[in-house]
Amino acid sequence: MDLRLITEAENLQGKYVLVRASCNVPLDKGVVCNSFRLRRALPTLEYLRLEGARVIVISHIGRKTTDSLLPVYEALNKLIPISWGGRITDPAFATTREAMNDGDIVLCENLRQDTREESNEQSLVEEIAKYASIYVNDAFAEAHRDHASTLGLAQVLPAYAGITLAEEVIELMKVMQPQSPSLFLLGGAKFETKMPLVEKYLNLYDHVFVGGALANDVLKARGYEVGTSLVSDVSLAKAPFLWSEKLLLPLDVIVDGPYGVATKLLDQVAKEEKILDVGPETVLMLESYILKSKTILWNGPFGNYEQGFVEGTEAVAEMIAKATGFSVLGGGDTVASVEKLGLNKKFGFISIGGGSMLTLLEYGTTPVLQALCK
Ligand code: 3PG
Repeated sequence: MDLRLITEAENLQGKYVLVRASCNVPLDKGVVCNSFRLRRALPTLEYLRLEGARVIVISHIGRKTTDSLLPVYEALNKLIPISWGGRITDPAFATTREAMNDGDIVLCENLRQDTREESNEQSLVEEIAKYASIYVNDAFAEAHRDHASTLGLAQVLPAYAGITLAEEVIELMKVMQPQSPSLFLLGGAKFETKMPLVEKYLNLYDHVFVGGALANDVLKARGYEVGTSLVSDVSLAKAPFLWSEKLLLPLDVIVDGPYGVATKLLDQVAKEEKILDVGPETVLMLESYILKSKTILWNGPFGNYEQGFVEGTEAVAEMIAKATGFSVLGGGDTVASVEKLGLNKKFGFISIGGGSMLTLLEYGTTPVLQALCK
Protein backbone atom coordinates (compact mmCIF):
# COMPACT_ATOMS: atom_id res chain seq x y z
CA MET A 1 0.00 0.00 0.00
CA ASP A 2 1.61 3.22 -1.16
CA LEU A 3 0.48 5.72 1.48
CA ARG A 4 1.08 9.49 1.20
CA LEU A 5 3.04 10.17 4.37
CA ILE A 6 2.78 13.38 6.35
CA THR A 7 6.58 13.36 6.65
CA GLU A 8 6.70 13.87 2.84
CA ALA A 9 4.59 17.07 2.98
CA GLU A 10 6.64 20.24 2.58
CA ASN A 11 6.37 23.58 4.27
CA LEU A 12 4.10 22.88 7.21
CA GLN A 13 5.19 25.97 9.12
CA GLY A 14 2.15 28.09 10.07
CA LYS A 15 -0.29 25.79 8.28
CA TYR A 16 -3.48 24.59 9.95
CA VAL A 17 -3.45 20.79 9.96
CA LEU A 18 -6.40 18.61 10.97
CA VAL A 19 -5.26 15.37 12.61
CA ARG A 20 -7.77 12.53 13.03
CA ALA A 21 -6.34 10.59 16.01
CA SER A 22 -7.53 7.44 17.83
CA CYS A 23 -8.55 8.80 21.23
CA ASN A 24 -11.24 6.21 21.92
CA VAL A 25 -9.66 5.01 25.16
CA PRO A 26 -11.17 3.26 28.19
CA LEU A 27 -12.27 5.41 31.13
CA ASP A 28 -12.67 4.46 34.76
CA LYS A 29 -14.79 6.90 36.77
CA GLY A 30 -14.17 9.60 34.18
CA VAL A 31 -10.38 9.11 34.07
CA VAL A 32 -8.37 7.51 31.25
CA CYS A 33 -7.27 4.09 32.53
CA ASN A 34 -5.22 2.97 29.53
CA SER A 35 -3.31 5.55 27.53
CA PHE A 36 -1.77 3.19 24.94
CA ARG A 37 -3.58 4.81 22.01
CA LEU A 38 -2.70 8.30 23.25
CA ARG A 39 0.98 7.41 23.46
CA ARG A 40 0.79 6.14 19.91
CA ALA A 41 -0.67 9.49 18.82
CA LEU A 42 2.45 11.32 19.98
CA PRO A 43 4.91 10.75 17.08
CA THR A 44 2.67 12.55 14.55
CA LEU A 45 1.69 15.33 16.96
CA GLU A 46 5.31 15.87 17.99
CA TYR A 47 6.44 15.89 14.35
CA LEU A 48 3.85 18.49 13.34
CA ARG A 49 4.59 20.62 16.39
CA LEU A 50 8.30 20.70 15.58
CA GLU A 51 7.49 21.56 11.96
CA GLY A 52 5.58 24.60 13.25
CA ALA A 53 2.13 23.49 12.10
CA ARG A 54 -1.01 24.60 13.92
CA VAL A 55 -2.55 21.29 14.84
CA ILE A 56 -6.29 20.69 15.31
CA VAL A 57 -6.89 17.18 16.69
CA ILE A 58 -10.27 15.57 16.04
CA SER A 59 -11.45 12.22 17.34
CA HIS A 60 -14.28 10.29 18.95
CA ILE A 61 -14.82 8.46 22.21
CA GLY A 62 -17.46 5.97 23.25
CA ARG A 63 -20.78 5.27 21.57
CA LYS A 64 -23.08 7.83 23.22
CA THR A 65 -23.61 11.41 22.01
CA THR A 66 -23.00 12.53 25.60
CA ASP A 67 -19.49 11.00 25.80
CA SER A 68 -16.79 13.66 26.07
CA LEU A 69 -13.12 13.81 25.18
CA LEU A 70 -12.37 16.04 28.18
CA PRO A 71 -10.79 13.14 30.15
CA VAL A 72 -8.58 12.51 27.11
CA TYR A 73 -7.60 16.18 27.11
CA GLU A 74 -6.47 15.81 30.76
CA ALA A 75 -4.45 12.68 29.98
CA LEU A 76 -2.94 13.80 26.66
CA ASN A 77 -1.94 17.16 28.11
CA LYS A 78 0.36 15.28 30.49
CA LEU A 79 2.16 13.76 27.50
CA ILE A 80 2.36 16.78 25.17
CA PRO A 81 1.24 20.40 25.65
CA ILE A 82 -2.25 20.84 24.19
CA SER A 83 -5.28 23.02 24.76
CA TRP A 84 -8.99 22.31 24.72
CA GLY A 85 -10.87 23.44 21.64
CA GLY A 86 -14.44 22.49 22.52
CA ARG A 87 -16.79 21.50 19.70
CA ILE A 88 -15.28 22.23 16.31
CA THR A 89 -18.76 23.00 14.98
CA ASP A 90 -19.43 25.70 17.59
CA PRO A 91 -19.01 29.21 16.13
CA ALA A 92 -16.67 29.97 19.06
CA PHE A 93 -14.09 27.57 17.61
CA ALA A 94 -13.22 30.14 14.92
CA THR A 95 -11.84 32.43 17.67
CA THR A 96 -9.92 29.59 19.34
CA ARG A 97 -8.36 28.75 15.97
CA GLU A 98 -7.45 32.40 15.26
CA ALA A 99 -5.55 32.55 18.55
CA MET A 100 -3.34 29.53 17.71
CA ASN A 101 0.38 30.02 17.18
CA ASP A 102 2.81 27.90 15.19
CA GLY A 103 3.39 24.59 17.00
CA ASP A 104 0.17 24.80 19.02
CA ILE A 105 -2.04 21.74 19.40
CA VAL A 106 -5.77 21.94 20.14
CA LEU A 107 -7.96 18.90 20.92
CA CYS A 108 -11.62 19.23 19.94
CA GLU A 109 -14.67 17.61 21.52
CA ASN A 110 -15.99 14.13 20.58
CA LEU A 111 -17.13 14.34 16.98
CA ARG A 112 -19.79 11.68 17.53
CA GLN A 113 -21.73 14.19 19.63
CA ASP A 114 -22.83 15.26 16.14
CA THR A 115 -24.77 12.48 14.44
CA ARG A 116 -23.55 13.68 11.03
CA GLU A 117 -20.10 12.26 11.86
CA GLU A 118 -21.06 8.59 11.57
CA SER A 119 -23.23 9.13 8.50
CA ASN A 120 -20.37 11.04 6.84
CA GLU A 121 -22.52 14.01 5.93
CA GLN A 122 -21.03 16.49 3.54
CA SER A 123 -22.31 19.46 5.57
CA LEU A 124 -20.18 18.36 8.54
CA VAL A 125 -17.18 17.58 6.34
CA GLU A 126 -17.32 21.14 4.97
CA GLU A 127 -17.80 22.72 8.41
CA ILE A 128 -14.61 21.01 9.60
CA ALA A 129 -12.56 21.24 6.40
CA LYS A 130 -12.79 25.03 6.28
CA TYR A 131 -10.50 25.25 9.30
CA ALA A 132 -7.42 23.61 7.73
CA SER A 133 -5.43 23.24 4.53
CA ILE A 134 -4.12 19.73 5.25
CA TYR A 135 -5.69 16.58 6.69
CA VAL A 136 -3.74 13.82 8.42
CA ASN A 137 -5.28 10.49 9.36
CA ASP A 138 -3.39 8.81 12.20
CA ALA A 139 -6.46 6.95 13.51
CA PHE A 140 -5.72 3.37 12.55
CA ALA A 141 -8.20 2.11 15.17
CA GLU A 142 -10.99 3.66 13.08
CA ALA A 143 -9.62 2.73 9.64
CA HIS A 144 -12.68 0.51 9.17
CA ARG A 145 -15.18 3.33 9.80
CA ASP A 146 -16.33 5.41 6.81
CA HIS A 147 -17.15 8.51 8.82
CA ALA A 148 -16.85 12.24 8.12
CA SER A 149 -13.59 12.52 10.06
CA THR A 150 -12.05 9.32 8.69
CA LEU A 151 -13.16 9.28 5.04
CA GLY A 152 -15.08 12.48 4.21
CA LEU A 153 -12.24 14.87 5.05
CA ALA A 154 -9.71 12.84 3.05
CA GLN A 155 -11.85 13.46 -0.03
CA VAL A 156 -11.90 17.25 0.23
CA LEU A 157 -8.47 18.18 1.65
CA PRO A 158 -4.92 17.15 0.68
CA ALA A 159 -4.81 13.95 2.76
CA TYR A 160 -1.82 12.23 4.37
CA ALA A 161 -1.24 9.17 6.54
CA GLY A 162 0.11 9.85 10.02
CA ILE A 163 3.28 8.18 11.33
CA THR A 164 1.44 5.64 13.50
CA LEU A 165 -1.15 4.75 10.89
CA ALA A 166 1.61 4.07 8.35
CA GLU A 167 3.53 1.94 10.85
CA GLU A 168 0.38 -0.09 11.59
CA VAL A 169 -0.11 -0.84 7.90
CA ILE A 170 3.53 -1.87 7.39
CA GLU A 171 3.59 -4.21 10.41
CA LEU A 172 0.22 -5.79 9.70
CA MET A 173 1.15 -6.34 6.06
CA LYS A 174 4.13 -8.37 7.29
CA VAL A 175 1.92 -10.89 9.08
CA MET A 176 -0.27 -11.23 6.01
CA GLN A 177 2.72 -13.00 4.49
CA PRO A 178 3.72 -15.17 7.43
CA GLN A 179 6.91 -17.10 7.80
CA SER A 180 6.28 -20.76 8.52
CA PRO A 181 5.70 -22.23 11.09
CA SER A 182 2.95 -19.70 11.70
CA LEU A 183 0.23 -19.45 14.32
CA PHE A 184 -2.87 -17.26 14.38
CA LEU A 185 -4.60 -16.97 17.76
CA LEU A 186 -8.12 -15.59 17.64
CA GLY A 187 -10.26 -14.93 20.70
CA GLY A 188 -13.25 -12.81 21.61
CA ALA A 189 -16.81 -13.37 20.41
CA LYS A 190 -19.08 -13.05 17.35
CA PHE A 191 -18.25 -15.87 14.98
CA GLU A 192 -20.71 -14.39 12.49
CA THR A 193 -18.29 -11.51 11.82
CA LYS A 194 -15.07 -13.53 12.12
CA MET A 195 -15.94 -16.52 9.96
CA PRO A 196 -14.34 -15.25 6.70
CA LEU A 197 -11.21 -14.34 8.66
CA VAL A 198 -10.92 -17.84 10.12
CA GLU A 199 -11.38 -19.35 6.66
CA LYS A 200 -8.76 -17.06 5.12
CA TYR A 201 -6.17 -17.63 7.84
CA LEU A 202 -6.65 -21.40 7.82
CA ASN A 203 -5.34 -21.18 4.26
CA LEU A 204 -2.62 -18.65 5.02
CA TYR A 205 -1.26 -19.96 8.35
CA ASP A 206 -0.06 -23.37 9.50
CA HIS A 207 -2.39 -23.30 12.50
CA VAL A 208 -5.30 -21.21 13.73
CA PHE A 209 -6.26 -21.45 17.40
CA VAL A 210 -9.79 -20.34 18.17
CA GLY A 211 -10.41 -19.46 21.83
CA GLY A 212 -12.77 -17.30 23.89
CA ALA A 213 -16.48 -17.38 23.12
CA LEU A 214 -15.63 -18.16 19.48
CA ALA A 215 -14.51 -21.61 20.54
CA ASN A 216 -17.94 -22.35 22.04
CA ASP A 217 -19.45 -22.22 18.55
CA VAL A 218 -16.95 -24.73 17.18
CA LEU A 219 -17.25 -27.02 20.21
CA LYS A 220 -21.04 -26.93 19.92
CA ALA A 221 -20.88 -27.77 16.21
CA ARG A 222 -18.56 -30.67 17.03
CA GLY A 223 -21.21 -32.04 19.38
CA TYR A 224 -19.86 -30.97 22.77
CA GLU A 225 -22.09 -29.67 25.55
CA VAL A 226 -21.44 -25.95 26.02
CA GLY A 227 -24.12 -25.42 28.67
CA THR A 228 -25.14 -21.77 29.10
CA SER A 229 -21.98 -20.43 27.42
CA LEU A 230 -22.09 -17.46 25.08
CA VAL A 231 -22.62 -18.64 21.50
CA SER A 232 -23.23 -16.70 18.30
CA ASP A 233 -26.19 -16.79 15.94
CA VAL A 234 -24.47 -18.84 13.27
CA SER A 235 -24.30 -22.61 13.19
CA LEU A 236 -20.93 -24.03 12.17
CA ALA A 237 -22.29 -27.56 11.71
CA LYS A 238 -21.75 -27.35 7.94
CA ALA A 239 -18.66 -25.11 7.96
CA PRO A 240 -16.00 -26.68 5.70
CA PHE A 241 -13.27 -25.96 8.26
CA LEU A 242 -15.06 -27.62 11.19
CA TRP A 243 -12.78 -30.66 11.24
CA SER A 244 -9.69 -29.04 9.70
CA GLU A 245 -6.46 -30.37 11.19
CA LYS A 246 -5.07 -26.85 11.13
CA LEU A 247 -7.81 -25.64 13.47
CA LEU A 248 -6.72 -25.80 17.12
CA LEU A 249 -9.29 -25.70 19.91
CA PRO A 250 -9.21 -25.61 23.72
CA LEU A 251 -8.51 -29.02 25.30
CA ASP A 252 -9.98 -27.99 28.62
CA VAL A 253 -12.00 -25.06 29.93
CA ILE A 254 -12.79 -23.14 33.09
CA VAL A 255 -16.50 -23.22 33.85
CA ASP A 256 -18.78 -21.58 36.39
CA GLY A 257 -22.26 -22.73 37.44
CA PRO A 258 -24.26 -24.19 40.31
CA TYR A 259 -21.28 -26.34 41.34
CA GLY A 260 -18.83 -23.41 41.38
CA VAL A 261 -15.77 -22.55 39.28
CA ALA A 262 -13.93 -25.63 37.99
CA THR A 263 -11.52 -26.84 35.33
CA LYS A 264 -13.18 -29.34 33.01
CA LEU A 265 -12.29 -31.46 30.04
CA LEU A 266 -14.52 -30.81 27.05
CA ASP A 267 -16.77 -33.84 27.63
CA GLN A 268 -17.29 -32.94 31.31
CA VAL A 269 -19.13 -29.62 30.84
CA ALA A 270 -22.65 -29.79 32.33
CA LYS A 271 -25.84 -28.26 30.92
CA GLU A 272 -26.02 -25.71 33.76
CA GLU A 273 -22.41 -24.55 33.34
CA LYS A 274 -20.89 -21.66 31.44
CA ILE A 275 -17.46 -21.77 29.79
CA LEU A 276 -15.50 -18.67 30.84
CA ASP A 277 -11.83 -19.34 30.05
CA VAL A 278 -9.41 -21.84 28.56
CA GLY A 279 -7.85 -24.34 30.97
CA PRO A 280 -4.21 -25.19 31.84
CA GLU A 281 -3.97 -28.14 29.40
CA THR A 282 -4.86 -25.76 26.58
CA VAL A 283 -2.21 -23.28 27.65
CA LEU A 284 0.36 -26.09 27.73
CA MET A 285 -0.67 -27.25 24.27
CA LEU A 286 -0.36 -23.70 22.93
CA GLU A 287 3.10 -23.33 24.42
CA SER A 288 4.55 -25.92 22.05
CA TYR A 289 3.09 -24.11 19.02
CA ILE A 290 4.03 -20.64 20.25
CA LEU A 291 7.65 -21.48 20.99
CA LYS A 292 8.31 -22.97 17.57
CA SER A 293 6.40 -20.40 15.47
CA LYS A 294 8.23 -17.84 13.37
CA THR A 295 5.09 -15.72 12.99
CA ILE A 296 2.52 -15.31 15.79
CA LEU A 297 -0.56 -13.20 15.22
CA TRP A 298 -3.01 -12.65 18.07
CA ASN A 299 -6.30 -10.78 18.44
CA GLY A 300 -8.88 -11.14 21.21
CA PRO A 301 -8.92 -12.55 24.75
CA PHE A 302 -9.51 -16.24 25.54
CA GLY A 303 -11.61 -15.70 28.64
CA ASN A 304 -14.44 -13.49 29.86
CA TYR A 305 -12.44 -10.41 30.72
CA GLU A 306 -15.25 -8.39 32.29
CA GLN A 307 -15.87 -11.15 34.83
CA GLY A 308 -12.18 -11.44 35.68
CA PHE A 309 -11.36 -14.63 33.76
CA VAL A 310 -7.97 -13.40 32.57
CA GLU A 311 -5.70 -16.32 33.43
CA GLY A 312 -5.63 -18.05 30.05
CA THR A 313 -5.06 -14.77 28.19
CA GLU A 314 -2.29 -13.70 30.56
CA ALA A 315 -0.54 -17.08 30.42
CA VAL A 316 -0.51 -16.92 26.62
CA ALA A 317 0.80 -13.33 26.74
CA GLU A 318 3.69 -14.46 28.98
CA MET A 319 4.49 -17.29 26.58
CA ILE A 320 4.52 -15.13 23.47
CA ALA A 321 6.77 -12.69 25.34
CA LYS A 322 9.32 -15.53 25.71
CA ALA A 323 9.01 -16.70 22.10
CA THR A 324 11.55 -15.73 19.47
CA GLY A 325 9.14 -15.55 16.51
CA PHE A 326 7.80 -12.24 15.19
CA SER A 327 4.64 -11.51 17.16
CA VAL A 328 1.87 -9.05 16.42
CA LEU A 329 -1.09 -8.46 18.67
CA GLY A 330 -4.17 -6.26 18.78
CA GLY A 331 -7.60 -5.82 20.33
CA GLY A 332 -8.40 -3.75 23.43
CA ASP A 333 -8.55 -6.46 26.10
CA THR A 334 -5.58 -8.36 24.68
CA VAL A 335 -3.45 -5.21 24.69
CA ALA A 336 -4.67 -4.31 28.20
CA SER A 337 -3.47 -7.66 29.55
CA VAL A 338 -0.05 -7.26 27.96
CA GLU A 339 0.24 -3.70 29.31
CA LYS A 340 -0.80 -4.85 32.78
CA LEU A 341 1.94 -7.48 32.74
CA GLY A 342 4.49 -4.94 31.50
CA LEU A 343 5.29 -7.08 28.45
CA ASN A 344 4.84 -4.46 25.71
CA LYS A 345 8.45 -4.40 24.63
CA LYS A 346 8.57 -8.20 24.28
CA PHE A 347 6.19 -8.21 21.31
CA GLY A 348 7.17 -7.53 17.72
CA PHE A 349 4.33 -5.07 17.30
CA ILE A 350 1.20 -4.06 19.22
CA SER A 351 -1.62 -2.63 17.14
CA ILE A 352 -3.95 0.11 18.37
CA GLY A 353 -6.63 -1.52 16.25
CA GLY A 354 -9.25 -4.05 17.28
CA GLY A 355 -11.94 -4.27 14.60
CA SER A 356 -9.77 -2.28 12.19
CA MET A 357 -6.93 -4.77 12.57
CA LEU A 358 -9.28 -7.66 11.76
CA THR A 359 -10.72 -5.77 8.80
CA LEU A 360 -7.27 -5.08 7.36
CA LEU A 361 -6.23 -8.70 7.92
CA GLU A 362 -9.37 -9.88 6.14
CA TYR A 363 -9.51 -7.51 3.15
CA GLY A 364 -5.91 -6.24 2.86
CA THR A 365 -7.16 -2.63 2.78
CA THR A 366 -10.13 -0.37 3.66
CA PRO A 367 -11.77 2.61 1.88
CA VAL A 368 -10.22 4.91 4.50
CA LEU A 369 -6.71 3.62 3.78
CA GLN A 370 -7.31 3.77 0.04
CA ALA A 371 -8.14 7.47 0.36
CA LEU A 372 -4.63 8.02 1.79
CA CYS A 373 -2.82 6.24 -1.03
CA LYS A 374 -0.79 7.98 -3.75
C1 3PG B 1 -12.28 0.73 18.52
O1 3PG B 1 -12.10 0.92 19.73
O2 3PG B 1 -12.35 -0.40 18.01
C2 3PG B 1 -12.32 1.93 17.61
O3 3PG B 1 -12.02 3.09 18.29
C3 3PG B 1 -13.63 2.02 16.88
O4 3PG B 1 -14.65 2.36 17.75
P1 3PG B 1 -16.17 2.10 17.32
O5 3PG B 1 -16.34 0.61 17.26
O6 3PG B 1 -17.00 2.76 18.36
O7 3PG B 1 -16.36 2.72 15.95
